[in-house]
Amino acid sequence: MDQKKFCIVGNWKMNADASEALAIVSKSLSYKTLLEKYDRLITAVLCPPFPFINLVKDMSLGMKISVGAQDCHDQEQGAFTGDVSARMLASLGCTHVIIGHSERRRFHQETNQQISQKIQVSLKNNLIPIICIGETEEEKNQGQTFRVLARQLEECLPQEKLAGKSFVIAYEPVWAIGSGKIPQNKEILDIHHYIYQYLLKFFKTQLFAVIYGGSVKPENAGGISSIKLVDGLLVGGASLKADLFFDIIQKAYASRA
Ligand code: PGA
Repeated sequence: MDQKKFCIVGNWKMNADASEALAIVSKSLSYKTLLEKYDRLITAVLCPPFPFINLVKDMSLGMKISVGAQDCHDQEQGAFTGDVSARMLASLGCTHVIIGHSERRRFHQETNQQISQKIQVSLKNNLIPIICIGETEEEKNQGQTFRVLARQLEECLPQEKLAGKSFVIAYEPVWAIGSGKIPQNKEILDIHHYIYQYLLKFFKTQLFAVIYGGSVKPENAGGISSIKLVDGLLVGGASLKADLFFDIIQKAYASRA
């Protein structure tokens, strides 16, 4: 199998103000050489809130770090007050966009159908969608994990539109997000294997990555990164401190180099 670049995404969620955002990126600048050294193996992506995309983009110019967004609207443009389009993001230099995060599904009632539409509009604008799927604690306890994932994959992925495009699936067990709990390595392996089996029916392995998210910290980053079929990490809380985020990147690199 081709060696895929390991993709580490920082999701700031709705945190930081302008001066804090500036402080995080300023601190990140001290890791410029490290990112250059790791570039062969690692793709790093920062997804700040919309108002800070420009700031992060400008400040990280010349650094081997990509900038993405946490969401986009499902339509190209129009009378959608307060919303942000994939086209706007692309025009700011974003390369990635997180779609269907469980917090969007939960607090904004996003459906799989809307997520599918968002994926299409992001592809049309040459953004790489980072598509989040995952089961809740209740679904896990009821032994529904694989059924839930299958349904999300089936309903969210616009197969014909995704063919030939790069995309990322982020497996994020909802119960692991922000909780400090993570699945056993074997569970992550089994689930990533399941997702791979599903994707390989339709897509070429070089074009997709399956990454893990949920309570990733420097302490567990090396272990999770060394699990087969884990192609990257989606990091929430720990991406708000540059030292922690880059520690995670270093641990991931060390476990893969
Ligand atoms: P966490 O969040 O790392 O804070 O658990 C992950 C995510 O929601 O993307």
